[in-house]
Amino acid sequence: QRILVLNGPNLNLLGTREPQLYGSVTLAQVDERLAVLGRELGVSVESAQSNHEGELVDRIQRAARESVEFIIINAGAYTHTSVALRDALAGVAIPFIEVHVSNVYKREPFRHHSYLSDQAVGVVAGLGTFGYEAALRYAVAY
Ligand code: DQA
Repeated sequence: QRILVLNGPNLNLLGTREPQLYGSVTLAQVDERLAVLGRELGVSVESAQSNHEGELVDRIQRAARESVEFIIINAGAYTHTSVALRDALAGVAIPFIEVHVSNVYKREPFRHHSYLSDQAVGVVAGLGTFGYEAALRYAVAY
């Protein structure tokens, strides 16, 4: 089973960026944790991050050609703006879980709307970086 973990803009700054909201764990640590957990659970986990919307679209399209079976995506701010990412995910028809490190519903109203949620298998928000692990465990059982 192949699972893609995709992180969007500014998530490369995880661990240093607004730690009161996002905690002190870095993206490299999250990726390492997911790789180890993937091996434990017997699935192949690939992680990618980009600050560029088009690159994220390209990566989603490539996932279909690579027979990725599940996507875990934290689209960052593109969650709230990107019809293109929504269309890419719908276009490849790969089931996905939307992850947010912070509880977006506790924050500014513009973060309450997501272009992805109604297409997602599920949404995890506010569990910190543990949300990625929870999503991976669910994806494997899915
Ligand atoms: C985020 C929440 C978004 O609103 C924000 O733009 C991010 C990170 C989160 O993980 O909590 O970049 O997706």
